[in-house]
This record gives sequence, structure tokens and C-alpha cells, in this order.
Amino acid sequence: MGGGVRILVAFLALAVAGYGVTRCAAQLRQDYYAAVCPDVESIVRAAVSKKVQETPVTVGATVRLFFHDCFVEGCDASVIVVSSGNNTAEKDHPNNLSLAGDGFDTVIKAKAAVDAVPQCTNQVSCADILVMATRDVIALAGGPSYAVELGRLDGLSSTATSVDGKLPPPSFNLDQLTSLFAANNLSQTDMIALSAAHTVGFAHCGTFASRIQPAAVDPTMDAGYASQLQAACPAGVDPNIALELDPVTPHAFDNQYFVNLQKGMGLLTSDQVLYSDDRSRPTVDAWAANSSDFELAFVAAMTNLGRVGVKTDPSQGNIRRDCAVLN
Ligand code: HEM
Ligand SMILES: *[C@@H]1O[C@H](CO)[C@@H](O)[C@H](O)[C@H]1NC(C)=O
Ligand SMILES: *[C@@H]1O[C@H](CO)[C@@H](O)[C@H](O)[C@H]1NC(C)=O
Ligand SMILES: *[C@@H]1O[C@H](CO)[C@@H](O)[C@H](O)[C@H]1NC(C)=O
Ligand SMILES: *[C@@H]1O[C@H](CO)[C@@H](O)[C@H](O)[C@H]1NC(C)=O
Repeated sequence: MGGGVRILVAFLALAVAGYGVTRCAAQLRQDYYAAVCPDVESIVRAAVSKKVQETPVTVGATVRLFFHDCFVEGCDASVIVVSSGNNTAEKDHPNNLSLAGDGFDTVIKAKAAVDAVPQCTNQVSCADILVMATRDVIALAGGPSYAVELGRLDGLSSTATSVDGKLPPPSFNLDQLTSLFAANNLSQTDMIALSAAHTVGFAHCGTFASRIQPAAVDPTMDAGYASQLQAACPAGVDPNIALELDPVTPHAFDNQYFVNLQKGMGLLTSDQVLYSDDRSRPTVDAWAANSSDFELAFVAAMTNLGRVGVKTDPSQGNIRRDCAVLN
């Protein structure tokens, strides 16, 4: 090796090391808890499996909770905090977010299981537990299993006002969806892949009532599906009725969501628009045809979602003792 090359190599090594030092604290990584709680993933998985067996609706509830957590103040478990006397928390925003209780319960139970191991007590963040639990419910429902990045801290605040404008309403069109996801560093492809989370879980009649008005059924909806929905939601917006987002394979985490869109059987406007709009239709068609391609894109998008607004510096967050209460 010539002297010049050796100097260059040394310089590069220094540059890489320097980058590591300055960026290290701000990086998520897969083995984050290897030293302090090496079995954290299997502890969480066992707690989540038990919860899903007892209460299958846990699957959709947990996946949606993760999405809402990340889009409001970053993936920091701020969505799990309960309101206190002087503070209305994220989860109590008045727009009827209807986050199902089983998602919260899953995180609380998994946290208790982790904390029951002396070495792990108060070592693992609620934000990371939600990320692991989400991965686990998806795998339990037949979806892909994937390695998750860890090292998020829990947020120091949770306010209802912080939710305003951060979450997509079901009426959004493609441009609106794309720009809201772009604000979270997610591409249109990520957005389409993540929307397939609607392959599991439920939506209340009010979220699609405007599409099934007898006098004006949304022309992008299959007529037979519209009649079924009208029969199931007779009063239009009965707040107690929720229907399966994927009417064909409601409990399986699969690519049926995209096949449904091809047939005019997307439940929400924001679902069906992914097929109606020429710009996203080729992606829907590709993933309806090839579930491996969908799974690859979904895992990449979930990894990107898990990076949104994460807090890794101790000045920005901590490890909450009780996921529902700020320390
Ligand atoms: C693309 C924009 C999105 C819109 C407009 C949207 C909207 C909605 C709405 C209105 C519901 C029904 C809520 C109810 O009536 O209780 C729902 C449910 C759900 N959403 Fe989304 N969502 C979007 C993206 C996502 C993403 C990115 C994920 C996760 C990666 C997700 C996961 C879920 C799940 C799993 C449910 C079912 C919840 C349950 O069964 O408890 N959604 N979504
Ligand atoms: C609520 O009030 C208590 C007691 O006055 C105070 O210690 C606490 O910081 C307040 N919390 C918030 C979120 O304002
Ligand atoms: C939330 O739901 C309740 C009960 O269904 C309803 O009375 C209220 O108007 C809803 N609030 C909003 C903001 O939609
Ligand atoms: C689906 O995509 C995978 C990965 O890109 C590819 O290897 C496979 O051949 C495709 N399958 C079909 C049926 O096209
Ligand atoms: C998006 O990425 C940029 C550059 O990495 C980063 O500064 C910003 O905080 C990220 N935004 C969110 C919402 O994660």
C-alpha cells in the first residue's frame, strides 16, 4: 500500500469514527438492549401472544396505536399517557379517535412482563415496547416478521392539542395523504404500503357513511359492497357499530387489502383512492399480484415509520416507569 493511500485510509477511519461519536447517541439499533435486558424481545412476544389469544382484536388495536403514536410528536409512547387533572392527553383529543383499549393494554401488560425481570426493571422504554408489540401482532396475524430498531426514549409530554392536523382523516385524497406522510419523512410508496395495515381491524360506520348515502353511493365503490354496508350501518353513523376494514380476510395480515381495492371494496375514501388515482394504481396492482413484494415494502415502510421524530437524547425523553403516566 502506498503512503498516500495509507493516509487516505487513516483519514477515512478517523472520519467514520468521528461520525460514530457524534451520531451514536442519536441512532436506533437492533441490539440496543443486549446488555441491560437481553431477552426483552422474547419477553414481549410471550406477553403479546397471550394477549392476542385472549383478545384477537388486539392485532388491529396495537398496529393503529403505533401509527398514531409516531405521527403525533414522534414514536415516543406519548399516545399511551392518560389525562391528569390539569392536562388533557393525546388519547383524549375530542375528534373521536376511537383508539381501541386493547392496544394500550398490550403495552401495559408487556411492560409489566419486562419489568418483572429484575435486570430489566425500568430499562426498556414504552415506545420500544410498542414497536416490538406491533411487530409481534403482525406476525401472529400471518404477516411478515422483521427485526426492529430500538433505543427510543419516552416523551416528556402528551397533549390533546398536539394531535391537531397530525393524523389523516378518512376523506383524504392522494395528494393530501402523500403530503402528510412526506411531512413525516415517508414516501408515497411507504404510505401505500402502510395503508395495507387496513387488512386487519375495524372502522366505525361514521368513517365511511358519506360514501354509502342511498341517493349518492360513491361511484368508486362496488355496488354490492355498498348495499352490504348500508344494511350493516342503517342509521348511517351509529357510533356503536364498527365493520371489518378487510371484508374478505379480516383477521389475516395479507395483501388482500390491495385485491379488495381492485374490486372497489376499499372501505374508506383514503383506501379506495389508492386505486382510483392513476398515480398509485400501478403500486396497488403490483402488490395485489405479489405478496412478497408487498411484504418487503411494508417492512421497509414500518422501519421508516418507527424512525419518525424519535427521541434518543436524555434531554428529550426518559424511560417511563408506568407507560400511562409521565415520570
Ligand atoms: C393513510 C391514511 C390513513 C387513514 C385516513 C386512516 C384512517 C383510519 C380510520 C378512519 C380508521 C377507523 C377508526 C374507527 O372507526 O375506529 C382506521 C383504522 C385502523 N387503522 Fe388507519 N388510517 C390510515 C393509515 C393507517 C396506517 C399507516 C396504519 C398503520 C400502519 C393504520 C392502521 C389502522 C388499523 C390497524 C385500524 C383498525 C383499528 C382497530 O381495529 O382497532 N392506519 N384508520
Ligand atoms: C399539574 O399540576 C401539578 C400540581 O400543581 C404539577 O406538579 C404538574 O406539573 C402539572 N402537570 C402538568 C402537565 O401541567
Ligand atoms: C364524538 O362522538 C359523540 C358520540 O357519538 C358525538 O356526540 C360527538 O359529536 C362526536 N364528536 C365529534 C367531534 O365528532
Ligand atoms: C414476486 O416478487 C418476488 C420478489 O421481488 C419475485 O422473486 C417473485 O418471482 C415474484 N412472484 C411472482 C409470482 O411474480
Ligand atoms: C426527517 O428527516 C430529517 C433529516 O434526517 C430530520 O431532521 C427530521 O427530524 C425528520 N422528521 C421527522 C418527523 O422525523
